[in-house]
Amino acid sequence: MRADQTAAWKTLAEHAKAFSSFDLRSEFARDAGRAKYFSQAAPGVFADLSKNLWDAKIESQLLALAQQAGVLAHRDRMFQGEAINTTENRAVMHWLLRHPSQGAAVDALPASVKLSLKDVHGTLSAMLLFAEKIRSDKQITDVVNIGIGGSDLGPQMAVMALQSFALKGKRFHFVANVDGHELDAVLQGLQADKTLFLVASKTFTTLETMTNALSAKRWFEAQGGTDVSRHFAALTTNVEAAGQFGIQTCFGFWDWVGGRYSLWSAIGLSLAIAIGADKFRELLAGAHAMDQHFQHADAAQNLPIRLGLLDVWYRNFLHYTSRCIAPYHSALKRFAPYLQQLEMESNGKQVDHEGQALPYGTSPVLWGEPGTNGQHAFFQMLHQGADVVPLEFVAVKNATHALPDHQALLLSNALAQAQALMVGKSDAGGHKNFAGNRPSTFILLEDLTPFNLGALIALQEHRVFVSGAVWGINSFDQWGVELGKVLAKDIHARIESGDVAGLDASTAQLLQRIRAA
Ligand code: F6P
Repeated sequence: MRADQTAAWKTLAEHAKAFSSFDLRSEFARDAGRAKYFSQAAPGVFADLSKNLWDAKIESQLLALAQQAGVLAHRDRMFQGEAINTTENRAVMHWLLRHPSQGAAVDALPASVKLSLKDVHGTLSAMLLFAEKIRSDKQITDVVNIGIGGSDLGPQMAVMALQSFALKGKRFHFVANVDGHELDAVLQGLQADKTLFLVASKTFTTLETMTNALSAKRWFEAQGGTDVSRHFAALTTNVEAAGQFGIQTCFGFWDWVGGRYSLWSAIGLSLAIAIGADKFRELLAGAHAMDQHFQHADAAQNLPIRLGLLDVWYRNFLHYTSRCIAPYHSALKRFAPYLQQLEMESNGKQVDHEGQALPYGTSPVLWGEPGTNGQHAFFQMLHQGADVVPLEFVAVKNATHALPDHQALLLSNALAQAQALMVGKSDAGGHKNFAGNRPSTFILLEDLTPFNLGALIALQEHRVFVSGAVWGINSFDQWGVELGKVLAKDIHARIESGDVAGLDASTAQLLQRIRAA
Protein backbone atom coordinates (compact mmCIF):
# COMPACT_ATOMS: atom_id res chain seq x y z
CA MET A 1 0.00 0.00 0.00
CA ARG A 2 1.26 3.49 -0.82
CA ALA A 3 2.84 4.85 2.34
CA ASP A 4 0.59 7.89 2.76
CA GLN A 5 -2.52 5.73 2.53
CA THR A 6 -1.61 3.58 5.50
CA ALA A 7 -3.13 3.99 8.95
CA ALA A 8 0.34 4.43 10.45
CA TRP A 9 1.10 7.39 8.17
CA LYS A 10 -2.05 9.14 9.36
CA THR A 11 -1.18 8.50 13.00
CA LEU A 12 2.34 9.79 12.43
CA ALA A 13 0.96 12.93 10.82
CA GLU A 14 -1.13 13.48 13.95
CA HIS A 15 1.92 12.96 16.16
CA ALA A 16 3.88 15.41 14.05
CA LYS A 17 1.24 18.12 14.58
CA ALA A 18 1.71 17.86 18.32
CA PHE A 19 5.44 17.73 17.96
CA SER A 20 6.42 21.38 18.20
CA SER A 21 6.53 21.01 21.98
CA PHE A 22 8.89 18.02 21.87
CA ASP A 23 12.10 18.78 23.71
CA LEU A 24 15.03 16.41 23.82
CA ARG A 25 16.27 17.80 27.12
CA SER A 26 12.97 17.11 28.85
CA GLU A 27 12.82 13.66 27.27
CA PHE A 28 16.20 12.77 28.76
CA ALA A 29 15.20 14.28 32.11
CA ARG A 30 11.93 12.35 32.11
CA ASP A 31 13.28 9.00 30.98
CA ALA A 32 16.47 7.60 32.50
CA GLY A 33 16.37 4.72 30.02
CA ARG A 34 16.22 6.85 26.87
CA ALA A 35 19.88 6.55 25.86
CA LYS A 36 19.74 2.78 26.24
CA TYR A 37 16.38 2.40 24.55
CA PHE A 38 17.50 4.23 21.46
CA SER A 39 20.95 2.66 21.25
CA GLN A 40 22.05 -0.62 19.90
CA ALA A 41 24.98 -2.65 18.75
CA ALA A 42 24.92 -4.17 15.29
CA PRO A 43 27.76 -6.00 13.54
CA GLY A 44 30.82 -3.76 13.41
CA VAL A 45 29.06 -0.67 14.76
CA PHE A 46 27.37 0.80 17.79
CA ALA A 47 24.70 3.42 17.22
CA ASP A 48 23.13 5.91 19.60
CA LEU A 49 19.90 7.23 18.13
CA SER A 50 18.68 8.78 21.35
CA LYS A 51 19.49 12.40 20.49
CA ASN A 52 16.92 12.34 17.73
CA LEU A 53 13.57 14.06 17.74
CA TRP A 54 11.40 11.04 18.34
CA ASP A 55 10.09 8.86 21.10
CA ALA A 56 9.05 5.25 21.55
CA LYS A 57 5.50 5.99 20.41
CA ILE A 58 6.72 7.46 17.15
CA GLU A 59 9.18 4.70 16.55
CA SER A 60 6.53 2.06 17.03
CA GLN A 61 4.27 3.83 14.51
CA LEU A 62 7.19 3.98 12.10
CA LEU A 63 7.63 0.24 12.52
CA ALA A 64 3.93 -0.17 11.81
CA LEU A 65 4.38 1.99 8.72
CA ALA A 66 7.19 -0.30 7.54
CA GLN A 67 4.92 -3.27 7.98
CA GLN A 68 1.92 -1.64 6.29
CA ALA A 69 3.97 -0.29 3.37
CA GLY A 70 5.43 -3.76 2.77
CA VAL A 71 9.04 -2.91 3.57
CA LEU A 72 9.87 -6.25 5.16
CA ALA A 73 8.28 -8.19 2.33
CA HIS A 74 10.26 -6.06 -0.13
CA ARG A 75 13.47 -6.79 1.76
CA ASP A 76 12.71 -10.51 1.62
CA ARG A 77 12.12 -10.30 -2.12
CA MET A 78 15.54 -8.71 -2.55
CA PHE A 79 17.18 -11.54 -0.60
CA GLN A 80 15.26 -14.07 -2.70
CA GLY A 81 16.81 -12.65 -5.86
CA GLU A 82 13.53 -11.36 -7.28
CA ALA A 83 13.60 -8.66 -9.95
CA ILE A 84 12.76 -5.76 -7.62
CA ASN A 85 14.52 -3.33 -9.96
CA THR A 86 11.31 -3.26 -11.96
CA THR A 87 12.13 -0.62 -14.55
CA GLU A 88 15.16 -2.59 -15.70
CA ASN A 89 13.69 -5.99 -14.84
CA ARG A 90 16.73 -6.94 -12.79
CA ALA A 91 17.38 -8.63 -9.49
CA VAL A 92 19.21 -6.59 -6.84
CA MET A 93 21.92 -8.80 -5.41
CA HIS A 94 24.94 -6.78 -4.36
CA TRP A 95 24.54 -8.63 -1.05
CA LEU A 96 25.41 -11.87 -2.86
CA LEU A 97 28.86 -10.47 -3.64
CA ARG A 98 29.70 -10.75 0.06
CA HIS A 99 27.90 -13.99 0.72
CA PRO A 100 30.07 -16.89 1.87
CA SER A 101 30.35 -19.78 -0.58
CA GLN A 102 29.52 -22.38 2.05
CA GLY A 103 27.44 -22.81 5.16
CA ALA A 104 23.84 -22.92 6.26
CA ALA A 105 23.00 -19.56 4.66
CA VAL A 106 23.83 -21.03 1.26
CA ASP A 107 21.25 -23.80 1.64
CA ALA A 108 18.55 -21.19 2.17
CA LEU A 109 19.24 -19.54 -1.21
CA PRO A 110 16.99 -20.21 -4.21
CA ALA A 111 18.60 -22.47 -6.83
CA SER A 112 19.18 -19.72 -9.40
CA VAL A 113 20.82 -17.52 -6.77
CA LYS A 114 23.07 -20.42 -5.77
CA LEU A 115 24.25 -20.60 -9.36
CA SER A 116 25.10 -16.90 -9.34
CA LEU A 117 26.96 -17.41 -6.08
CA LYS A 118 29.25 -19.87 -7.83
CA ASP A 119 30.08 -17.27 -10.47
CA VAL A 120 30.62 -14.68 -7.73
CA HIS A 121 33.20 -16.79 -5.97
CA GLY A 122 34.89 -17.85 -9.20
CA THR A 123 35.40 -14.21 -10.18
CA LEU A 124 36.31 -13.15 -6.65
CA SER A 125 39.07 -15.76 -6.43
CA ALA A 126 40.44 -14.80 -9.83
CA MET A 127 40.39 -11.11 -8.99
CA LEU A 128 42.04 -11.61 -5.61
CA LEU A 129 44.71 -13.80 -7.18
CA PHE A 130 45.40 -11.01 -9.65
CA ALA A 131 45.46 -8.48 -6.79
CA GLU A 132 48.07 -10.54 -4.96
CA LYS A 133 50.12 -10.87 -8.14
CA ILE A 134 50.17 -7.11 -8.55
CA ARG A 135 50.98 -6.62 -4.87
CA SER A 136 54.10 -8.69 -5.20
CA ASP A 137 55.03 -7.18 -8.57
CA LYS A 138 57.69 -4.68 -7.53
CA GLN A 139 57.81 -3.15 -10.99
CA ILE A 140 54.28 -1.80 -10.68
CA THR A 141 54.43 1.27 -8.46
CA ASP A 142 51.26 3.05 -9.50
CA VAL A 143 47.68 1.84 -9.86
CA VAL A 144 45.26 4.17 -11.62
CA ASN A 145 41.54 3.50 -11.33
CA ILE A 146 39.70 5.13 -14.22
CA GLY A 147 35.98 5.20 -13.47
CA ILE A 148 33.19 7.50 -12.35
CA GLY A 149 30.17 7.38 -10.03
CA GLY A 150 29.96 3.97 -8.41
CA SER A 151 33.04 2.88 -10.32
CA ASP A 152 35.04 5.56 -8.55
CA LEU A 153 33.43 6.73 -5.32
CA GLY A 154 33.32 3.33 -3.60
CA PRO A 155 36.88 2.17 -4.27
CA GLN A 156 38.29 5.65 -3.74
CA MET A 157 36.50 6.08 -0.42
CA ALA A 158 37.54 2.62 0.78
CA VAL A 159 41.19 2.84 -0.32
CA MET A 160 41.42 6.08 1.62
CA ALA A 161 39.51 4.75 4.62
CA LEU A 162 41.74 1.69 4.88
CA GLN A 163 45.01 3.43 4.14
CA SER A 164 46.51 2.15 7.37
CA PHE A 165 46.21 -1.38 5.93
CA ALA A 166 47.50 -0.44 2.50
CA LEU A 167 50.61 -1.87 0.98
CA LYS A 168 53.53 0.51 1.17
CA GLY A 169 55.41 1.19 -2.01
CA LYS A 170 52.45 1.50 -4.34
CA ARG A 171 50.48 4.63 -5.06
CA PHE A 172 46.79 4.66 -5.87
CA HIS A 173 45.19 7.25 -8.11
CA PHE A 174 41.56 7.83 -9.06
CA VAL A 175 40.62 9.57 -12.26
CA ALA A 176 36.92 10.22 -12.79
CA ASN A 177 36.22 13.56 -14.41
CA VAL A 178 36.21 14.09 -18.18
CA ASP A 179 38.04 17.30 -17.33
CA GLY A 180 41.45 16.54 -18.78
CA HIS A 181 43.18 18.39 -15.96
CA GLU A 182 42.49 15.46 -13.70
CA LEU A 183 44.03 12.77 -15.90
CA ASP A 184 46.83 15.06 -16.99
CA ALA A 185 47.88 15.78 -13.42
CA VAL A 186 48.02 12.06 -12.65
CA LEU A 187 49.85 11.11 -15.86
CA GLN A 188 52.54 13.67 -15.17
CA GLY A 189 53.71 11.68 -12.19
CA LEU A 190 53.68 8.27 -13.90
CA GLN A 191 55.97 6.02 -15.91
CA ALA A 192 54.30 3.71 -18.41
CA ASP A 193 56.26 0.59 -17.47
CA LYS A 194 55.47 1.04 -13.78
CA THR A 195 51.75 1.73 -14.09
CA LEU A 196 48.65 -0.44 -14.04
CA PHE A 197 45.45 1.18 -15.34
CA LEU A 198 42.17 -0.29 -14.14
CA VAL A 199 39.33 0.74 -16.41
CA ALA A 200 36.31 0.44 -14.13
CA SER A 201 32.92 0.75 -15.78
CA LYS A 202 29.86 -1.39 -15.34
CA THR A 203 28.61 -0.54 -18.82
CA PHE A 204 31.93 0.26 -20.51
CA THR A 205 30.15 3.04 -22.37
CA THR A 206 30.35 5.94 -19.91
CA LEU A 207 31.66 9.01 -21.71
CA GLU A 208 34.06 10.14 -18.98
CA THR A 209 35.60 6.75 -18.44
CA MET A 210 35.92 5.87 -22.11
CA THR A 211 37.50 9.24 -22.88
CA ASN A 212 39.98 8.91 -20.02
CA ALA A 213 40.76 5.28 -20.84
CA LEU A 214 41.47 6.13 -24.46
CA SER A 215 43.71 9.04 -23.48
CA ALA A 216 45.52 6.84 -20.97
CA LYS A 217 46.11 4.20 -23.65
CA ARG A 218 47.38 6.81 -26.10
CA TRP A 219 49.70 8.20 -23.41
CA PHE A 220 50.91 4.69 -22.58
CA GLU A 221 51.75 3.97 -26.23
CA ALA A 222 53.34 7.38 -26.71
CA GLN A 223 55.58 6.63 -23.75
CA GLY A 224 56.76 3.48 -25.55
CA GLY A 225 54.48 1.12 -23.65
CA THR A 226 53.58 -1.95 -25.67
CA ASP A 227 52.20 -4.58 -23.32
CA VAL A 228 48.61 -3.39 -22.93
CA SER A 229 47.54 -6.75 -21.49
CA ARG A 230 49.97 -6.27 -18.60
CA HIS A 231 49.27 -2.60 -17.97
CA PHE A 232 45.50 -2.38 -18.48
CA ALA A 233 42.72 -4.36 -16.86
CA ALA A 234 38.98 -3.89 -17.27
CA LEU A 235 36.38 -4.24 -14.52
CA THR A 236 33.01 -4.47 -16.20
CA THR A 237 29.82 -6.35 -17.01
CA ASN A 238 30.50 -5.62 -20.69
CA VAL A 239 33.40 -7.94 -21.35
CA GLU A 240 32.87 -7.72 -25.09
CA ALA A 241 33.33 -3.93 -25.19
CA ALA A 242 36.47 -4.23 -23.07
CA GLY A 243 37.85 -6.72 -25.60
CA GLN A 244 37.04 -4.36 -28.47
CA PHE A 245 38.87 -1.62 -26.61
CA GLY A 246 41.92 -3.88 -26.62
CA ILE A 247 41.96 -4.98 -23.00
CA GLN A 248 42.38 -8.70 -22.50
CA THR A 249 42.64 -8.82 -18.70
CA CYS A 250 39.08 -8.53 -17.61
CA PHE A 251 37.15 -9.16 -14.40
CA GLY A 252 33.42 -9.27 -14.85
CA PHE A 253 30.33 -8.73 -12.78
CA TRP A 254 26.62 -8.85 -13.40
CA ASP A 255 23.69 -6.63 -14.29
CA TRP A 256 22.13 -7.33 -10.88
CA VAL A 257 24.83 -5.18 -9.25
CA GLY A 258 23.94 -1.47 -9.31
CA GLY A 259 26.87 0.85 -9.99
CA ARG A 260 26.63 2.51 -6.56
CA TYR A 261 26.52 -0.94 -4.94
CA SER A 262 29.48 -2.35 -6.83
CA LEU A 263 32.43 -1.83 -4.47
CA TRP A 264 32.14 -5.52 -3.51
CA SER A 265 32.54 -6.71 -7.09
CA ALA A 266 35.52 -6.50 -9.45
CA ILE A 267 35.09 -2.72 -9.15
CA GLY A 268 36.86 -3.14 -5.80
CA LEU A 269 40.07 -4.36 -7.44
CA SER A 270 42.08 -1.24 -6.59
CA LEU A 271 41.11 -1.75 -2.96
CA ALA A 272 42.01 -5.44 -3.11
CA ILE A 273 45.44 -4.50 -4.45
CA ALA A 274 45.85 -1.93 -1.69
CA ILE A 275 44.83 -4.10 1.28
CA GLY A 276 45.32 -7.63 -0.06
CA ALA A 277 43.03 -10.62 -0.51
CA ASP A 278 42.54 -11.48 3.16
CA LYS A 279 41.61 -7.98 4.19
CA PHE A 280 39.28 -7.64 1.18
CA ARG A 281 37.55 -10.81 2.35
CA GLU A 282 37.24 -9.25 5.83
CA LEU A 283 35.49 -6.25 4.27
CA LEU A 284 33.06 -8.64 2.59
CA ALA A 285 32.56 -10.51 5.86
CA GLY A 286 31.66 -7.28 7.67
CA ALA A 287 29.12 -6.40 5.01
CA HIS A 288 27.72 -9.93 5.11
CA ALA A 289 27.32 -9.73 8.88
CA MET A 290 25.27 -6.56 8.37
CA ASP A 291 23.24 -8.29 5.63
CA GLN A 292 22.38 -11.05 8.07
CA HIS A 293 21.44 -8.52 10.71
CA PHE A 294 19.21 -6.65 8.25
CA GLN A 295 17.64 -9.85 7.01
CA HIS A 296 17.03 -11.56 10.35
CA ALA A 297 17.06 -9.17 13.32
CA ASP A 298 13.69 -8.22 14.75
CA ALA A 299 12.56 -4.95 13.14
CA ALA A 300 12.60 -3.09 16.46
CA GLN A 301 16.26 -3.99 16.95
CA ASN A 302 17.28 -3.80 13.32
CA LEU A 303 19.65 -0.90 12.82
CA PRO A 304 19.18 -0.29 9.07
CA ILE A 305 15.41 -0.40 9.61
CA ARG A 306 15.56 2.01 12.54
CA LEU A 307 17.78 4.46 10.65
CA GLY A 308 15.75 4.24 7.44
CA LEU A 309 12.52 4.87 9.33
CA LEU A 310 14.04 7.80 11.17
CA ASP A 311 14.95 9.23 7.76
CA VAL A 312 11.29 8.90 6.72
CA TRP A 313 10.09 10.57 9.93
CA TYR A 314 12.39 13.53 9.34
CA ARG A 315 11.66 13.86 5.64
CA ASN A 316 7.91 13.38 5.54
CA PHE A 317 6.66 14.43 8.96
CA LEU A 318 9.12 17.02 10.27
CA HIS A 319 9.88 18.09 6.66
CA TYR A 320 13.65 18.30 6.99
CA THR A 321 15.15 18.31 3.53
CA SER A 322 18.76 17.42 4.20
CA ARG A 323 21.01 15.24 6.31
CA CYS A 324 24.58 16.07 7.18
CA ILE A 325 27.21 13.41 7.68
CA ALA A 326 30.27 14.19 9.77
CA PRO A 327 32.87 11.45 9.99
CA TYR A 328 35.30 12.13 12.80
CA HIS A 329 38.16 10.38 11.05
CA SER A 330 40.20 12.00 8.33
CA ALA A 331 40.49 8.72 6.41
CA LEU A 332 36.72 8.91 5.90
CA LYS A 333 37.21 12.05 3.84
CA ARG A 334 35.36 10.60 0.86
CA PHE A 335 32.57 9.03 2.86
CA ALA A 336 30.07 11.86 2.35
CA PRO A 337 30.47 11.96 -1.46
CA TYR A 338 30.11 8.19 -1.49
CA LEU A 339 26.90 8.38 0.53
CA GLN A 340 25.64 11.19 -1.66
CA GLN A 341 25.47 8.89 -4.65
CA LEU A 342 24.10 6.04 -2.57
CA GLU A 343 21.25 8.06 -1.12
CA MET A 344 20.48 10.58 -3.82
CA GLU A 345 20.86 8.40 -6.92
CA SER A 346 18.87 5.66 -5.21
CA ASN A 347 16.04 7.67 -3.71
CA GLY A 348 16.02 10.97 -5.58
CA LYS A 349 12.81 10.05 -7.44
CA GLN A 350 9.21 11.17 -7.55
CA VAL A 351 7.32 8.23 -9.00
CA ASP A 352 6.40 4.78 -7.73
CA HIS A 353 7.21 1.43 -9.36
CA GLU A 354 4.43 1.99 -11.91
CA GLY A 355 5.62 5.47 -12.79
CA GLN A 356 2.78 7.17 -10.88
CA ALA A 357 3.62 10.50 -9.26
CA LEU A 358 4.12 10.40 -5.50
CA PRO A 359 2.70 13.20 -3.37
CA TYR A 360 5.42 13.23 -0.70
CA GLY A 361 9.09 14.04 -0.38
CA THR A 362 11.75 11.40 -0.96
CA SER A 363 15.56 11.58 -0.81
CA PRO A 364 16.99 14.30 1.41
CA VAL A 365 20.02 16.22 0.24
CA LEU A 366 23.01 14.48 1.74
CA TRP A 367 26.17 16.41 2.41
CA GLY A 368 29.05 16.67 4.83
CA GLU A 369 32.73 16.87 5.62
CA PRO A 370 34.92 15.31 8.24
CA GLY A 371 35.01 16.80 11.71
CA THR A 372 36.58 18.73 13.23
CA ASN A 373 37.02 20.65 9.94
CA GLY A 374 33.28 21.10 9.50
CA GLN A 375 33.04 22.72 12.92
CA HIS A 376 35.03 25.66 11.58
CA ALA A 377 32.98 25.95 8.43
CA PHE A 378 29.30 25.02 8.33
CA PHE A 379 28.49 23.92 11.87
CA GLN A 380 27.48 27.49 12.62
CA MET A 381 24.40 26.88 10.52
CA LEU A 382 23.69 23.54 12.20
CA HIS A 383 23.70 25.21 15.61
CA GLN A 384 21.99 28.51 14.90
CA GLY A 385 20.64 28.43 11.34
CA ALA A 386 16.96 28.68 10.49
CA ASP A 387 16.75 25.08 9.24
CA VAL A 388 17.04 21.97 11.32
CA VAL A 389 19.51 19.55 9.75
CA PRO A 390 19.85 16.10 11.33
CA LEU A 391 23.53 15.35 11.73
CA GLU A 392 25.09 11.90 11.65
CA PHE A 393 28.39 11.51 13.46
CA VAL A 394 30.64 8.60 12.59
CA ALA A 395 33.46 8.27 15.10
CA VAL A 396 36.16 5.67 15.54
CA LYS A 397 37.32 4.84 19.05
CA ASN A 398 40.90 3.78 18.36
CA ALA A 399 43.39 5.63 16.22
CA THR A 400 46.15 3.93 14.27
CA HIS A 401 48.67 6.72 14.78
CA ALA A 402 50.77 7.01 17.91
CA LEU A 403 50.55 10.77 18.36
CA PRO A 404 49.59 11.67 21.90
CA ASP A 405 46.64 14.00 22.63
CA HIS A 406 44.95 13.99 19.23
CA GLN A 407 42.48 11.14 19.54
CA ALA A 408 41.00 12.23 22.84
CA LEU A 409 40.64 15.77 21.49
CA LEU A 410 39.02 14.51 18.32
CA LEU A 411 36.48 12.36 20.15
CA SER A 412 35.81 15.06 22.73
CA ASN A 413 34.90 17.38 19.90
CA ALA A 414 32.51 14.88 18.35
CA LEU A 415 30.77 14.32 21.68
CA ALA A 416 30.74 18.02 22.47
CA GLN A 417 29.13 18.91 19.15
CA ALA A 418 26.38 16.34 19.60
CA GLN A 419 25.86 17.61 23.12
CA ALA A 420 25.85 21.28 22.10
CA LEU A 421 23.32 20.63 19.35
CA MET A 422 21.02 19.04 21.87
CA VAL A 423 21.44 21.11 25.03
CA GLY A 424 21.95 24.52 23.46
CA LYS A 425 22.52 27.56 25.62
CA SER A 426 19.79 29.98 26.48
CA ASP A 427 21.24 32.08 29.28
CA ALA A 428 23.04 34.47 26.96
CA GLY A 429 20.28 35.73 24.67
CA GLY A 430 20.55 37.25 21.17
CA HIS A 431 23.56 36.32 19.09
CA LYS A 432 24.93 33.99 21.70
CA ASN A 433 21.74 32.02 22.12
CA PHE A 434 21.68 28.39 21.01
CA ALA A 435 18.16 27.03 20.84
CA GLY A 436 19.39 23.44 21.18
CA ASN A 437 16.99 20.53 20.65
CA ARG A 438 18.82 19.82 17.38
CA PRO A 439 18.94 16.18 16.36
CA SER A 440 21.92 13.92 15.81
CA THR A 441 22.79 10.25 15.51
CA PHE A 442 26.09 8.95 16.80
CA ILE A 443 27.69 5.94 15.14
CA LEU A 444 30.75 4.54 16.85
CA LEU A 445 33.24 2.02 15.50
CA GLU A 446 35.88 0.43 17.68
CA ASP A 447 38.47 0.54 14.92
CA LEU A 448 38.42 1.46 11.26
CA THR A 449 39.06 -2.10 10.08
CA PRO A 450 37.99 -3.70 6.81
CA PHE A 451 35.31 -5.67 8.68
CA ASN A 452 33.86 -2.63 10.39
CA LEU A 453 33.99 -0.52 7.24
CA GLY A 454 32.20 -3.27 5.31
CA ALA A 455 29.49 -3.36 7.97
CA LEU A 456 29.19 0.44 8.04
CA ILE A 457 28.75 0.67 4.27
CA ALA A 458 26.22 -2.17 4.16
CA LEU A 459 24.34 -0.44 6.99
CA GLN A 460 24.06 2.66 4.83
CA GLU A 461 23.00 0.65 1.77
CA HIS A 462 20.21 -0.99 3.72
CA ARG A 463 18.93 2.16 5.41
CA VAL A 464 18.59 3.68 1.95
CA PHE A 465 16.71 0.53 0.93
CA VAL A 466 14.32 0.93 3.86
CA SER A 467 13.35 4.55 3.21
CA GLY A 468 13.10 3.85 -0.53
CA ALA A 469 10.81 0.90 0.19
CA VAL A 470 8.56 3.01 2.43
CA TRP A 471 8.32 5.61 -0.32
CA GLY A 472 7.49 2.88 -2.81
CA ILE A 473 10.14 3.93 -5.29
CA ASN A 474 12.60 1.85 -7.26
CA SER A 475 15.88 2.63 -5.49
CA PHE A 476 17.90 0.73 -8.07
CA ASP A 477 17.51 2.61 -11.33
CA GLN A 478 18.76 6.10 -12.25
CA TRP A 479 16.83 7.41 -15.24
CA GLY A 480 17.43 10.95 -14.04
CA VAL A 481 20.99 10.93 -15.30
CA GLU A 482 20.05 10.20 -18.90
CA LEU A 483 18.76 13.50 -20.26
CA GLY A 484 21.98 15.39 -19.54
CA LYS A 485 23.99 12.70 -21.30
CA VAL A 486 21.86 12.99 -24.46
CA LEU A 487 21.96 16.79 -24.48
CA ALA A 488 25.74 16.81 -23.92
CA LYS A 489 26.14 14.79 -27.13
CA ASP A 490 24.07 17.29 -29.07
CA ILE A 491 25.93 20.26 -27.60
CA HIS A 492 29.29 18.63 -28.20
CA ALA A 493 28.44 18.45 -31.92
CA ARG A 494 27.32 22.09 -31.84
CA ILE A 495 30.55 23.20 -30.16
CA GLU A 496 32.34 21.71 -33.15
CA SER A 497 29.99 23.13 -35.78
CA GLY A 498 28.83 26.39 -34.18
CA ASP A 499 25.22 25.60 -35.03
CA VAL A 500 22.95 27.17 -32.42
CA ALA A 501 19.67 26.75 -34.33
CA GLY A 502 16.83 25.70 -32.06
CA LEU A 503 18.76 26.27 -28.82
CA ASP A 504 17.38 28.43 -26.04
CA ALA A 505 18.90 31.92 -25.96
CA SER A 506 20.95 31.32 -22.84
CA THR A 507 22.58 28.11 -24.02
CA ALA A 508 23.19 29.61 -27.46
CA GLN A 509 24.86 32.67 -25.95
CA LEU A 510 27.16 30.64 -23.72
CA LEU A 511 28.06 28.28 -26.53
CA GLN A 512 29.01 31.20 -28.75
CA ARG A 513 31.20 32.64 -26.02
CA ILE A 514 32.95 29.34 -25.59
CA ARG A 515 33.59 29.15 -29.33
CA ALA A 516 34.69 32.77 -29.77
CA ALA A 517 38.35 33.20 -30.70
O1 F6P B 1 25.43 8.20 -14.89
C1 F6P B 1 25.24 7.59 -13.67
C2 F6P B 1 25.92 6.25 -13.62
O2 F6P B 1 25.26 5.35 -14.44
C3 F6P B 1 26.02 5.72 -12.20
O3 F6P B 1 24.88 5.06 -11.80
C4 F6P B 1 27.22 4.85 -12.30
O4 F6P B 1 27.75 4.51 -11.05
C5 F6P B 1 28.12 5.71 -13.13
O5 F6P B 1 27.27 6.35 -14.05
C6 F6P B 1 29.21 4.98 -13.86
O6 F6P B 1 28.70 4.00 -14.72
P1 F6P B 1 29.64 2.88 -15.30
O7 F6P B 1 30.18 2.08 -14.18
O8 F6P B 1 28.75 2.06 -16.19
O9 F6P B 1 30.74 3.55 -16.08
